[in-house]
Amino acid sequence: MQALPIFMNINDRLCVIIGAGEVAARKVTMLLKAGAKVSVHAPDICTALATLAEAGRIHYEQAAYTEKQLENACLVIAATNDLSVNTAVSMAAKAKNIPVNVVDAPALCTFTMASIVERSPVVIAISSEGHAPVLARYLRSKIETMLPAGYGRIAAIAGEFRDKVKSKYATSQARRVFWEDVLQGPIVERILAGQEAAARAALDHLLSDNTAPQQHGEVYLVGGGPGDPDLLTFRALRLMQQCDVCVYDKLVSAEVLELVRRDAERIYVGKSRDQHTLAQEEINQLLARLALAGKRVLRLKGGDPFIFGRGGEEIETLMQQGVPFQVVPGITAANGVSSYAGIPLTHRDYAQACLFITGHLKNGELDFDWAAMARPQQTVVIYMGLVGLAQICQQLIAHGVSANMPAAVVQQGTTQNQRVVSANLGDLAEQVAAANMKAPCLTIIGEVVQLREKLNWFEPQTKHAG
Ligand SMILES: C[S@@+](CC[C@H](N)C(=O)[O-])C[C@H]1O[C@@H](n2cnc3c(N)ncnc32)[C@H](O)[C@@H]1O
Repeated sequence: MQALPIFMNINDRLCVIIGAGEVAARKVTMLLKAGAKVSVHAPDICTALATLAEAGRIHYEQAAYTEKQLENACLVIAATNDLSVNTAVSMAAKAKNIPVNVVDAPALCTFTMASIVERSPVVIAISSEGHAPVLARYLRSKIETMLPAGYGRIAAIAGEFRDKVKSKYATSQARRVFWEDVLQGPIVERILAGQEAAARAALDHLLSDNTAPQQHGEVYLVGGGPGDPDLLTFRALRLMQQCDVCVYDKLVSAEVLELVRRDAERIYVGKSRDQHTLAQEEINQLLARLALAGKRVLRLKGGDPFIFGRGGEEIETLMQQGVPFQVVPGITAANGVSSYAGIPLTHRDYAQACLFITGHLKNGELDFDWAAMARPQQTVVIYMGLVGLAQICQQLIAHGVSANMPAAVVQQGTTQNQRVVSANLGDLAEQVAAANMKAPCLTIIGEVVQLREKLNWFEPQTKHAG
């Protein structure tokens, strides 16, 4: 290690920047975040810094470099494109024992600035000691994706409880064990899910209760998206990797399931049309039972749990039984599938509204407000509409939609097996039958479908017609 990583308190202290270009602006942004008083000196100033100067957030002096500008500085940065100026700044700062950084010139620096991942008050600094700043930034972006945005809130709440923990546990060893348990337990999940009051109450309870801690389970109701695993949210992935048991549906793709923690128990409760492995009420009870037995239960659903996903019913049962839970939205089929089919659901020329509707037949019948579905300037997206497709098309035409209205059916959208049949409303059912399309299929009806001809961008590996 050639340099010691330290965090320097520059709050309300003077930091001087020589140079006022874009690189200087990036450094200034960091200094301002840390609460510094910033003074910038240069003959010309870039727009970003000029805006900050106008807003009174920095002091700007339009002048060439002079040594006097460094007076009273606790830190100096040289960011000009003139090597002789940068060298002069470096030498003068070193002579005055002021820490100095010269952009892109490690030999002239007494300190370098790290790439940071900020989850304030937690800050992670990454340095390549000036050798490979791009590598440091690359590592930073990797760490950004791994650390939930709420880590700062965990640190802040831990800070609030520091004194209470200290008065309950006399030794640092006991305090360490306490915090390690907390950090690996459900309280952290409460904080990350935005349930901070519940987290504080649980911490208070833990500190006032002298009985052995009970193992608490919970349910994560997670939307697994339409199929492509890259469409999972960060939070979904994190919870998938820490569950004890995964209760999943038919629609969850194999690639998504692959990302669930290897040694988690897997329970399939998939539903296919008219044939449910477990009735919904049994699934609701199963989730509650597993969580009450202390398990972290991942309830993994295709798409979004609250869009034709019966997620609401599941959490109603959990609420009734006092089981903690959190809901993680997923990309619903309408969003994901239409994007991958090159069909924007709204467009200023063609559709100002979009209707999501289920085509699930009730007692073999479709029970729609056909007039509402037939309105112009809107896109209709039908989930579970494959079986009733011929009926839907006929009824729409009977209610005034043109038989020439563009329409498409997308099978297994967003996956490498995606297939698309696009046709006029009048021919759609016939063409879909001829192509032998199988569930899951999403139907999109509206003028926007014609845009697919121009905007189709996704190329699944499995090539089909359409
Ligand atoms: C029971 S609903 C569940 C919807 C899910 N909760 C969502 O938000 O996407 C199942 C229907 O969603 C649609 N669907 C889900 N994933 C799909 C995909 N990858 N491609 C096409 N349709 C899909 C189909 O219409 C399927 O019959």
